Amino acid sequence: MEYKKLINIIENKEAKVVVVGLGYVGLPMAAIVASRGYFTTGIDINHDIVNKVNNKKSPINEPGLEEIVYKGVEAGRLRATVEASEIRNSNVVLIIVQTPVDENKEPCLEALMSATKAVAENISEGTLVVVESTIPPGTMRNKILPVLASSGLKVGTDFFLANSPERAIPTRTLEEIQINSRVVGGIDERSAELAGVFYENITSGEVYKDAVEIVEVVKLIENTFRDVNIALANDVALLCEALGIDAIKAINLANKHPRVNFHMPGAGVGGHCIPKDPYFLIKEAEKHGVNLSVIKASRERNSNMPYHVLEKLKNALKKQGKDIKESTVAVLGIAYKGNVDDVRETPAEPIIKTLMKSGVDVFSHDPYVSQDFGGKFSNEIKTVVKNADALVIVTDHDEYKKLDFGDLRLLMKDKAIILDGRRILNPEDIKRLGFIYYGIGC
Ligand SMILES: NC(=O)c1ccc[n+]([C@@H]2O[C@H](COP(=O)([O-])OP(=O)(O)OC[C@H]3O[C@@H](n4cnc5c(N)ncnc54)[C@H](O)[C@@H]3O)[C@@H](O)[C@H]2O)c1
Repeated sequence: MEYKKLINIIENKEAKVVVVGLGYVGLPMAAIVASRGYFTTGIDINHDIVNKVNNKKSPINEPGLEEIVYKGVEAGRLRATVEASEIRNSNVVLIIVQTPVDENKEPCLEALMSATKAVAENISEGTLVVVESTIPPGTMRNKILPVLASSGLKVGTDFFLANSPERAIPTRTLEEIQINSRVVGGIDERSAELAGVFYENITSGEVYKDAVEIVEVVKLIENTFRDVNIALANDVALLCEALGIDAIKAINLANKHPRVNFHMPGAGVGGHCIPKDPYFLIKEAEKHGVNLSVIKASRERNSNMPYHVLEKLKNALKKQGKDIKESTVAVLGIAYKGNVDDVRETPAEPIIKTLMKSGVDVFSHDPYVSQDFGGKFSNEIKTVVKNADALVIVTDHDEYKKLDFGDLRLLMKDKAIILDGRRILNPEDIKRLGFIYYGIGC
């Protein structure tokens, strides 16, 4: 099928779309593509995910996702399978698999390359392949293209190749996929054009086209921007703690400046984006003899924040004459971010594991997650805080903002401490309830 015909069927919604990888990004994307009228097949190696989708259920907690999956499957426009051979019948293939870093912080592209291999083994002439996964610089031309070309098809005439990194934020994934602007990188002009037409049918935001080499870096510098700015806010938090003033008050006032826009400090940065994407840049730069010292220092500051929380907790308990090793600590929040069920790189993990290692009696709660990292997990907040010496808020779940802390105070031990790792509470209100209050940045 030639290029013009492919443009036509994309515009007319006659193109069949395959999404490889039905995770936190892939499934919402597949469901939205189906809602636009495309026949959409999601492929995942995880049978459980495939079964859930085909049974009109969402395997993850994302607002609105179950409803749109239900509608798509019910209408016969969305289905899931573990069979990569489904790629043969498609005109557009989106690859949205995980791209983590390994223990040495080197990019781990195993899932991406195995998904690409599956595409190469099944690709038909006239297919547009788009990589939505976040990737290190150079991946499209040096790694993805050779594997796809091993199919015997020629890029630019027989198949087309682009990347378009996903920018949506968990808890608003569906909305953001449909309204955010998109960057599209084509391996050549036709590929950029085709991918541009596809995404114009998905989002009401602008679609910006450029070379793949540029677009690969765009996604990485976006997340690095956020990591560095969070690190700056965390530096300010540590400074203000030392000065005995409230960092949030200082930051809020600084943000009144027309050209200042601070991020917020916190107990740590998690998820499958910000903690690992800067390493794609750091490691690539090292290959070229460039030391990204600011980005490295920011990563270090942010990944140390959970240990800062632990130090603060230890000192707070000590001040009350309590040894942390003989204390009971309640951890509220396991997920890396409010109102999600994702635990990847969550600060709760080092916090709970380090406390456990020191012999602390740790209880934990999360409304969306049941992974305990070794602590005693309960769905009942009252069970978790009962007889605790300290309560540490790790995740800003909405549920925690609405808690009756007066009630919880009565269940806890004498000289009860609250350490607010997300600054979701009003310090004065909490102190009035009889707590000893600590927060990140004060
Ligand atoms: N999670 C986010 O908030 C977010 C936001 C923007 C961009 N991203 C990027 O999007 C990509 C996907 O992230 P995610 O959070 O959705 O990952 P995820 O781990 O939630 O989902 C990946 C899915 O791909 C499946 N998979 C792995 N190998 C496969 C293969 N060979 N064939 C078929 N399926 C396969 C896995 O089983 C899994 O279900 C990553 O590159 C990430 O950096 C993530």
